[in-house]
Amino acid sequence: MKTFTTRRDIREYLTSQGAATIGFVPTMGALHNGHLSLIARARQGNDITVCSIFVNPTQFNDPNDLKNYPRPIAEDMAKLEQAGCDVLFNPPVTEIYDDNEQWHLNIGPLEHLLEGDFRPGHYQGVTQVVYKLLDIVKPDNLYMGQKDYQQFLVVSRMVSLMGIPVKMVMCPIERETDGLAMSSRNIHLTPAERQHALVIFKTLNWVKANFNIDNLPTLQKDAMAKLAAEEGVQPEYFSIVDGKTLLPADANSETVVALTAARVGNTRLIDNVLIK
Ligand code: PAJ
Repeated sequence: MKTFTTRRDIREYLTSQGAATIGFVPTMGALHNGHLSLIARARQGNDITVCSIFVNPTQFNDPNDLKNYPRPIAEDMAKLEQAGCDVLFNPPVTEIYDDNEQWHLNIGPLEHLLEGDFRPGHYQGVTQVVYKLLDIVKPDNLYMGQKDYQQFLVVSRMVSLMGIPVKMVMCPIERETDGLAMSSRNIHLTPAERQHALVIFKTLNWVKANFNIDNLPTLQKDAMAKLAAEEGVQPEYFSIVDGKTLLPADANSETVVALTAARVGNTRLIDNVLIK
């Protein structure tokens, strides 16, 4: 695997590869099998697979979350080698951002719903960094996880607004055998919290099994109550929404998705399931 830390060097290398197709997997590192499933998907569909590891400061609204975000770069590099990744881009913050850089993109209602409501500014930071990374890597295909469902919609909107010629590919959620969605933040959970966190996937499945489009407010309320009843779990939202707009689902919704965020101890977890 070739590793680059500057824009100039990775650009020079990728340009030298001519017409080879590029699949790109942007990450913040602390890689798990969820990330590696994206690498596998990218390898299947492209000549060159590029992964970036960059803990993007502009998308963190909690300074402690940024400070404590795990950064096991040596282990990450070994995992990427093993997964057959061709190129790693691992820039320092100064390579991506100038001091006092401003960014604002009007992405419409998606910015302030759900995650956007609980993490103000988060999606501005995400669009800012993904825009820059796409400009550097210039991939043909961009692989992102359903795990961050709203992020996928936000980035898709940005790609279409900016007219970026890249195809977006959504990859399924990888889970531990007991159902917990894989996440770089899971390592912060104590063994007891790890057990209590299972209520998230259980509740999503319960909602899927009991789905009835005419009964969404009750279903959402019951789901919130199930989450809140679990020791150490504080739900932030549980929403059953239209898969395209993230507005409340109705009978005309082609896809319906249930999305939730909850704090388990001090760790904030998100998860979702496609219902229709
Ligand atoms: P990060 O949280 O590292 O996630 C990188 C990619 O891995 C995202 O597309 C995410 O949806 C996907 N992913 C995470 N957990 C997954 C799982 N259990 N199964 C499948 N895919 C999973 O998302 C970010 O980084 C950042 O916001 C980023 C897009 C890199 C911009 O900084």
